[in-house]
Amino acid sequence: MKDTPINFEIVSKHIKESGLPSVGKASIREIKKLIDNIEAETGEKYIRMEMGIPGLPPTQIGVEAEIEALKKGVAAIYPDIYGIPQLKTEISKFVKLFMDIDVDPQGCIPTVGSMQGGIAAFLTINRMHKEREGTLFIDPGFPVHKQQVRVIGQDYMTFDVYNYRGEKLRDKLESYLKTGKVSSILYSNPNNPSWICFTETELKIIGELATKYDVIVLEDLAYFGMDFRKDYSQPGKPPYQPTVAKYTDNWVFFISSSKVFSYAGQRIGMMVISDKLFNTDAPDLKRYYNSSNVGYAMIFGTMYALSSGTSHSAQYALTAMLKAVNEGRSNITEPVKEYGEKAKIMKKLFTGNGFEIVYDKDEGEPIADGFYFTFSYPGFTGEKLLNELIYYGISAISLAITGSERLEGIRACVSLVQRAQFPDLEYRLKKFQKDHRV
Ligand SMILES: Cc1ncc(COP(=O)(O)O)c(C=O)c1O
Repeated sequence: MKDTPINFEIVSKHIKESGLPSVGKASIREIKKLIDNIEAETGEKYIRMEMGIPGLPPTQIGVEAEIEALKKGVAAIYPDIYGIPQLKTEISKFVKLFMDIDVDPQGCIPTVGSMQGGIAAFLTINRMHKEREGTLFIDPGFPVHKQQVRVIGQDYMTFDVYNYRGEKLRDKLESYLKTGKVSSILYSNPNNPSWICFTETELKIIGELATKYDVIVLEDLAYFGMDFRKDYSQPGKPPYQPTVAKYTDNWVFFISSSKVFSYAGQRIGMMVISDKLFNTDAPDLKRYYNSSNVGYAMIFGTMYALSSGTSHSAQYALTAMLKAVNEGRSNITEPVKEYGEKAKIMKKLFTGNGFEIVYDKDEGEPIADGFYFTFSYPGFTGEKLLNELIYYGISAISLAITGSERLEGIRACVSLVQRAQFPDLEYRLKKFQKDHRV
């Protein structure tokens, strides 16, 4: 029997019982279940870094507004598909105040989590040109988006941006766009899983090429304002959350309330469509919709078909939370800065014990500390490393499932790790290094 921080026999038994051929290849939910079982039997707490869920309480202003709305009876009433007017206005103001982008409230649509914005955009935008095939993903990325395009039967293209930062991005991106097959480009910024953030140079390249090839950029801002190297929290004052919208009119934003407002459970997000795109006429849409107008097809075709709008009470919550940050009564990033603080300490613990950060730079500048980071250990693939770390009480996911070509890499999410666990983390990493001399 090996001397590992978590009882070797018990861990081995649970891995065997799980029927997983390799822990390192398992999905996030499979890993979660396995660790739950091991924790239950051993009574030991893992350093749980597999799931990207908020580790903070929900924004209270939202909770109160939602309760109030429910008491007033909104639960009985169908909300308009395109959202309640006061929310649309607050979203438009938010985009102006925190991104410095003008958008008409009509293009600001609440969605069932920003995930619904994703599938709605794939369904509508990717059908604007019948000769095109689908989305180009600038990876690494959030695996569920690819699941969305797969379930609706669309094709997609993807590349790992690791070797194409800065000016190098231009030729790489253009090589895909030149094929004439790309309908849209999707990336998240800050990026899940790597926490890289595109620089202005890169956003400019993406924007210019989107205009040149008439392709729509789907900009996923799930971690809005959370590049803590800058303070994006002052309404109406620079610096603003960086965006491709500075360089093209062909854009859709997905803005999540899950992380920044810790409001994941109510499944409310925002899809924001540029004025130009909203008013675009795309005759090929007529194959699926009554109208060839993009905004009309999106709302009365796609959103109607998907869920006929978004939870009425949650729209009141989001209105109240946005209003508070728009008016400067609450600070949008202050409550979530803790993620960055924890990441800074955790990254030090990893690198101080022989581990390396995989995606480590934004064009020469060290990446920000935030919700996620990526790591590796010399001589290990990500899969092998995960298989081994599980005996050391550390759980995470392999980068292989995110479209990353860095097969040595693992994604760590800091949100659920408590500061009180840092001594355990340090002990386990030290022990790992001692047991695996390079
Ligand atoms: C990159 C990215 N996009 C979208 C989402 C989903 O956001 P929502 O909860 O608003 O649907 C997440 C959640 O983890 C994410 O990481």
